[in-house]
Amino acid sequence: MRVLTTLAILLAMLLGISVLAQPPTVPAVPFHDSLRGTTPLDEEAKPPLIYPTENQDVIRGLNYAQQPPTIPHKIDNYQLDRNANKCLACHARSRAQESGAVPVAISHYLDREGQVSGHLSPRRYFCTQCHVPQADAKPLVGNTFVAVEDVTPQPPPTSKKR
Ligand code: HEC
Ligand code: HEC
Repeated sequence: MRVLTTLAILLAMLLGISVLAQPPTVPAVPFHDSLRGTTPLDEEAKPPLIYPTENQDVIRGLNYAQQPPTIPHKIDNYQLDRNANKCLACHARSRAQESGAVPVAISHYLDREGQVSGHLSPRRYFCTQCHVPQADAKPLVGNTFVAVEDVTPQPPPTSKKR
């Protein structure tokens, strides 16, 4: 048993040394950080503009089934913490008629066993976990996502003859 442990420790040490001996991997030049750009680490980068939140009050379409709809209005200064949930002041099913807001979906009243309860499920309390406001900003990376229902079925690839 002793011998085995000593061997294991020796092996671990050897492995450690071989890892250390390897030259550090340098990212391909120029190193580009999405927040810092190419500004060197010892210089301060010019902060990017903060885009204004879109606030057109027009409900946006969904990109795929079961997508949490994006928030079409500003949510600045809406309290959303342990003590208060400002969103529910308008979006609770009991407040919707008065506020004109879309009532929270019935799924928000289901517990994780799928049982309907009389109050909002705790796992839906922090709305901004799933629902986010939008900004009219240029996307940082390209995206060619297509919802499954918009994908036209392609004919199967024909085997090439040689
Ligand atoms: C003062 C009332 C009010 C408050 C507070 C409020 N909303 Fe809204 N919300 C609305 C109204 C009204 C609409 C309908 C579209 C519009 O007029 O902007 C809406 C629309 C939405 C929608 C779009 C629903 C859909 O079917 O597309 C989402 C999501 C949403 N709000 C989430 C939130 C979240 C999350 C908060 C809290 C951070 C919040 N709202 C706070 C009034 C409110
Ligand atoms: C765990 C993710 C999650 C959380 C947290 C959550 N939602 Fe949703 N919400 C969704 C999804 C997904 C949908 C769309 C599917 C559905 O109807 O269940 C939705 C739908 C909605 C809708 C549209 C209902 C409709 O009939 O079109 C509103 C409004 C809404 N949520 C408001 C809220 C508010 C307000 C909160 C916080 C109290 C909240 N949601 C918390 C995921 C979430």
